[in-house]
Amino acid sequence: MNGRPGTADGAHHLVERPRRLRRTPALRDLVAETRWHPGQLVLPLFVKEGIDEPAPIASMPGVVQHSLPSLRKAAREAVAAGVGGLMLFAVPEHKDATGYQALAPDGILQRALRETAAEVGDATVLMSDVCLDEFTDHGHCGVLTPDGRVDNDATLERYAAMAVLHADAGVHCVGLSGMMDGQVGAVRRALDGAGHQEVSIVAYTAKYASAFYGPFRDAVECDLHGGNRNAYQMDARNSTEALRELALDEAEGADIVMVKPALTCLDVLHTVAAHARVPVAAYQISGEYAMLEAAAAHGWIDRERAIAETLTSIHRAGADIILTYWAVEAARWRT
Ligand code: PBG
Repeated sequence: MNGRPGTADGAHHLVERPRRLRRTPALRDLVAETRWHPGQLVLPLFVKEGIDEPAPIASMPGVVQHSLPSLRKAAREAVAAGVGGLMLFAVPEHKDATGYQALAPDGILQRALRETAAEVGDATVLMSDVCLDEFTDHGHCGVLTPDGRVDNDATLERYAAMAVLHADAGVHCVGLSGMMDGQVGAVRRALDGAGHQEVSIVAYTAKYASAFYGPFRDAVECDLHGGNRNAYQMDARNSTEALRELALDEAEGADIVMVKPALTCLDVLHTVAAHARVPVAAYQISGEYAMLEAAAAHGWIDRERAIAETLTSIHRAGADIILTYWAVEAARWRT
């Protein structure tokens, strides 16, 4: 009978009973440390050139490649659900070695951004993907040297020009997903030089080479011809270099930093969030979406609870902003 906290002084006297606060839904809500809000969710959207009707993506059931009109409608619906942002990816009809369509004034991404900007105005945050993998026939995120390696600095010039086109088209934010060294600085200088000081940069700061990008590559019809991105995306065995990338991106002018994938990198996300001086985003990627949907389709997990649990975990690990293909559905649960 010593009365120390947390010790049992017989069956009816436990000083500490954590279960007291788990007893009713209201008690659980009262003490919940982590709550996410629809305004923190960003919906990635795909638009494809030359189609009249949205086209399903087999490995991402429920997600489509949009036509321009269906994209506008989806953007409106996301705004109505209270989603905080839209991230646009485009699939051009013609791909080539240098990704020419990424820089064509009337390229599909530029057109889609102009139309979406006209549709939603400032009601949400319009973001664009600045990367070449959707536009190149070899599927890499940059242009290649004659011996087939991704040419970092030649690629930077293209990202800079792309970002200016996107800013001209009306985006609030450009998303730099290519993992080239110096990409944030190059794009910041180009935007400022073109009078777009107010356009912000979401830097994919710690983006890992991941097998879970597979369904996305179906969505943007990206074929790496058996290759991989290991020479520019991060190695899953490392976390220290995430802090190096963070320091560089912040110094180069990143307004928001991102960790990707989300679920396999919760530790990295936590570390980056502890050090970042800017808001932190995490991208719940296509493979995370596909595996959960597949298990749910088999009846092996409770779909909605599983989705909510992943979003909560990503937020708990430190993400202020979450890119997720479930953004509209999850936002509706909260509005
Ligand atoms: C590259 C890019 C990728 C994703 C977003 N931007 C693919 C890659 O790096 O291979 C993946 C997103 C997802 O899997 O949902 N532009």
